[in-house]
Amino acid sequence: MFRQFLIYLHLLGVIVWIGGMSFAYFFLRPAAIEVLEPAQRLPLWAETFARFLRAVAVAVGVIVASGLAMLLPIGLHKAPLGWHIMLALGLVMAAIYGYVHLVLYPRLRTHCAAASWPAAGQALNGIRRLVAVNLALGLCTIAAAISAR
Ligand code: HEM
Repeated sequence: MFRQFLIYLHLLGVIVWIGGMSFAYFFLRPAAIEVLEPAQRLPLWAETFARFLRAVAVAVGVIVASGLAMLLPIGLHKAPLGWHIMLALGLVMAAIYGYVHLVLYPRLRTHCAAASWPAAGQALNGIRRLVAVNLALGLCTIAAAISAR
């Protein structure tokens, strides 16, 4: 029962993180480019990320904590290969998220506050690239998780 609860938390975290990234990348981004000028679009992203990155901080904490709580009692030596891959990719994803939150996102905010739209656009582009990388890694991580069944 407790293990089911851990998987439930684990998957809720994954849904928030991967679901939020796909919504931003595939739906909000093209719509915002079509409808808004940089002076409206870039502050919209800054405000969207203010909320999303905070939620992802919680999601990453929940995913890593619940994952380790399921993995460690079994032991790394007994864990299937898929779980090792999930752990490794999950940690890489968390590091990429940390870089976006702590380095690129503050740049986006600073440039938006100064109304320097080309520099803000550059920061946003860096975030976009890393979101694409994390989306791809997320899909590989889910495949690794399922391969262990
Ligand atoms: C970072 C550290 C992580 C650890 C230590 C970890 C560990 C685990 C463990 C031990 C399970 C198996 C639970 C069981 O079947 O009893 C599991 C399930 C799962 N994990 Fe992770 N995980 C991590 C990150 C991630 C990430 C980042 C994702 C997705 C992007 C992910 C997606 C999944 C999915 C979809 C399952 C369910 C697989 C299934 O039931 O077939 N995990 N995780």
